[in-house]
Amino acid sequence: MTSRIIVVDPFDYVVFGGTGDLARRKLLPALYHRELDGQLPAEARIIGVSRRPRSDAEYRSDVKAALEKHVAFDELKPAVIEAFLSRIHYVAADATSTEGWADLAALLKTGEHRVRAFYLATGPDLFGPICEQIGAHGLITDKTRVVVEKPLGKNLESARATNDAVGRVFPEEQIYRIDHYLGKETVQNLMALRFANALFEPQWNSAHIDHVQITVAETVGVEGRGDYYDTSGALRDMVQNHLLQLLCLVAMEAPANMDASSVRGEKLKVLKALKPITALNAEGCTVRGQYRAGASATGAVPAYLDEVTNKQTRTETFVAIKAEVSNWRWAGVPFYLRTGKRLAQRLSEIVVRFKPVPHSIFDDTAGALSANELVIRLQPDEGVKLQLMIKDPGPGGMRLTRVPLDMSFASAFKVRNPDAYERLLLDVVRGNATLFMRRDEVEAAWAWIDPIREAWDESRDAPKSYTSGTWGPSAAIALIERDGRNWHEDAV
Ligand code: BG6
Repeated sequence: MTSRIIVVDPFDYVVFGGTGDLARRKLLPALYHRELDGQLPAEARIIGVSRRPRSDAEYRSDVKAALEKHVAFDELKPAVIEAFLSRIHYVAADATSTEGWADLAALLKTGEHRVRAFYLATGPDLFGPICEQIGAHGLITDKTRVVVEKPLGKNLESARATNDAVGRVFPEEQIYRIDHYLGKETVQNLMALRFANALFEPQWNSAHIDHVQITVAETVGVEGRGDYYDTSGALRDMVQNHLLQLLCLVAMEAPANMDASSVRGEKLKVLKALKPITALNAEGCTVRGQYRAGASATGAVPAYLDEVTNKQTRTETFVAIKAEVSNWRWAGVPFYLRTGKRLAQRLSEIVVRFKPVPHSIFDDTAGALSANELVIRLQPDEGVKLQLMIKDPGPGGMRLTRVPLDMSFASAFKVRNPDAYERLLLDVVRGNATLFMRRDEVEAAWAWIDPIREAWDESRDAPKSYTSGTWGPSAAIALIERDGRNWHEDAV
């Protein structure tokens, strides 16, 4: 099966922070892959912007080095690299002064009728100043969009301030807030699975579903981002955005259609229905942890405390939460969320465990009946697995066993699994905001997160320590076992 490539409209992608880590690791390789698939029109340009003066030629050689580092060797095709580099330009401009902006304006003027996308791959403190300059220099056309990355605030108040700063210059329809999890293939497949199949929807509620688990486990530590991470922690870095977005896609009602406003409207309703977790109940439904030294697949790894400057830090590198969506569909169904760094395995998955059959007709020799389970594996080894009970083959009576109906994307579709940014960057060009977060969603997510953070900050307890290379503190296992349930077995 091959994917269908539709060339997008001509565009100018202006990447602020064009020499930074995100641009080098993700944005430029993603655009290169779209080049490789022949999706970029001849006129498209990519304009890197940062403060330090550089010529186009110097920037092109930086971009080439980034591709060589971050694109698989067999996908580096000299002719395609050359074509890609010929689109690359560089402008030195300072977000906090007017320096360089006339150059950027002059370059953009030569492509006035194209789609224009400003990607702010910078710290959020520069979002406001950059937007102001964009506005002041008259760079906003009807076909202009601005893309912003997390962290979109540290709490509701600062998220509002960031949204206000961007919103003073751009109307909401032109603002694309990226949550790269929404661009992952299997995350989009969650919508296909739910809404393109009649099978699941009648079962998708508290009458038939026992609980849902969402795990995003990483084996890496803070990877040289200790300074940022220590002011953030797993709750802000992962739960506020990625895990809550996944929860929304699992729990939302069927939108009227795939339009941005319909999908985002349904997600917003889920966020607003989340049962508050405050100082009154945080102890019973949350666990936070911090990794100590241990082992990873590559050898011994240091403790979190040894990777950050503040040796007294209480920042969490692991979170488990028992959440609830208080509405008609989901009342009483726990959503167990779990994420952490330096865990035993890199694994992101959503597990939907159905209720057991109401009555067994089989006698004891058949063995125990396990409830059905739908496992949506986001990464690695993307796929969907449905655990069913069947008769164990062969003579000897009716013995039952659990087997998976297993669909691995890699073996079912012989196509490369594109990186989330490839889809998202071109959705911006296409003007499709369905997979981006609207302002009210981001703020509703913070409104739920803030009281948890406050409860932790007020508590005298420090995060529970866990050994690197394990599945987090034992309290996280107790959190789910107290309810007579367990974390999905492939993961534990
Ligand atoms: C980012 C977080 O948003 O997502 C990182 O800031 C985290 O801390 C990363 O490592 C995980 O993304 P992925 O796509 O590798 O699962």
